[in-house]
Amino acid sequence: MAIKKIGVLTSGGDAPGMNAAVRAVVRTALSRGLEVVGVYGGYDGLINGDSRPMNLRSVSNIINRGGTVLLSARSPEFRTEAGMQKAISQCLKHEIEGLVIIGGDGSFRGAQDLTRRGFPCIGIPATIDNDISCCEHTIGYDTALNTCMELCDKLRDTMQSHGRCSVVEVMGRHAGYIALNVGIAIGATSIIVPEVEYNFQRDVLDRIEMAQATGKNDFIVVVAEGIGGAEQMAKDIEEKTGIVTRATILGHVQRGGTPTLSDRVLASRFGARAVELLLEGKSNRVVAEQLGKILDFDIEEALAMKKTLDMDLYNMALEISI
Ligand code: F6P
Repeated sequence: MAIKKIGVLTSGGDAPGMNAAVRAVVRTALSRGLEVVGVYGGYDGLINGDSRPMNLRSVSNIINRGGTVLLSARSPEFRTEAGMQKAISQCLKHEIEGLVIIGGDGSFRGAQDLTRRGFPCIGIPATIDNDISCCEHTIGYDTALNTCMELCDKLRDTMQSHGRCSVVEVMGRHAGYIALNVGIAIGATSIIVPEVEYNFQRDVLDRIEMAQATGKNDFIVVVAEGIGGAEQMAKDIEEKTGIVTRATILGHVQRGGTPTLSDRVLASRFGARAVELLLEGKSNRVVAEQLGKILDFDIEEALAMKKTLDMDLYNMALEISI
């Protein structure tokens, strides 16, 4: 029997473009004759039955907004069997027959658990970390890259004026995609990522000295969160080179802001496709983008895939960012 009512929620760390995805889910669902409810506060909202009907105007003027109008949470309760059962009861009570879950890998594990208990779910990859293996670009990644780039450009101004070195720590949890791409875009002297074995002398000091020998007197080291230790690294650089060095941890500012055009379009395509999959009777799928095409994968297979850093890109950065 065809489904009549679906829910949409955002879960885990927010990412710019989540709102565009919510909007696309709501509008596509309504256009195809479905009822749709927004679940507020991620899986916690599902457990507590915090859902409200959405109409065309519920999602007006949100495509350009960062954050998520549906609010988000990391829900420890949902990881328990009791929490999950409560969530399913709430869905049954509100006659929700399928869910679109917008988030990262933790959120998809939740979707998988619900599906295993007979509740259809479709995942949409949204995380600034870009660490969903089946998907070339996740919602929020492009915006975060541009935010980091702008902030690092500002740092460069002041580093140049004073002939200093800046160690910038960017987010990414265990992944180095933000660090690598921002490092290239801002011409960082060193880019330190968790995917590549790191040696302070070779990867930081030698590169600064090499650049210094050719007349450079301001430096930026981009370090991924998965390596961390920006403050200590700054102290060590100053001690070993005598160059005044400052550490900046960009932090959560990277998760906010107006989504870029790419993120808005990607989120819209993902949202529309997720609803179509539910209408096709599919479940336990995650939508993804590869070479500009929207695909979908089994969540279990998607979570088992390994995403590697583009080593050609990394080696290119080593050659030209000096
Ligand atoms: O997954 C997105 C992310 O911003 C990571 O880059 C970071 O490690 C983590 O979330 C921070 O989580 P929280 O917002 O819970 O501090």
